[in-house]
Amino acid sequence: MDQDQLMEDIVAGYGDIKENYQQERLVELLREIQELYGCIPEDIQKYIADELGIKQVVIKSILKYFPSLHSAKRHKITLCVGPRCSQKESGELAEALREEIRARRNRKGAGFFTFTTKNCLKQCRNAPNLKIDDKIFSGVRPGDIRKILNSIDGDD
Ligand code: FES
Repeated sequence: MDQDQLMEDIVAGYGDIKENYQQERLVELLREIQELYGCIPEDIQKYIADELGIKQVVIKSILKYFPSLHSAKRHKITLCVGPRCSQKESGELAEALREEIRARRNRKGAGFFTFTTKNCLKQCRNAPNLKIDDKIFSGVRPGDIRKILNSIDGDD
């Protein structure tokens, strides 16, 4: 079961909030979500609000009130593992990405990154490549990963 499926199960377990809103229950739910992701991704805040019939601004005000809970924007990383990128050691990049994502977990102010692979990003000439959201990064070395993720956080 992946993280998002687990999250959906957790939110479903708090369905009583829809009928009988109690702030303590919502805070409890947000703590569970933070335990799962290391933060409360913005898109998940919207999901919770929609599922429980509450306004997203309610969640935002709770996050402001409880400094131990923190929000983060979710960024999707796609690493190319196609033939050209694999020749240029995209396997090492995968390891560096996993390590950096782990290191950023629970760090306040850090974005939330999810990581998948794809067989070709159609930029073979500039291998190895990875994409974060809609932006392609080419000729990436494992030592570049931290700087790249920091630059994405800086754009938020
Ligand atoms: S194999 Fe990586 S971009 Fe084509």
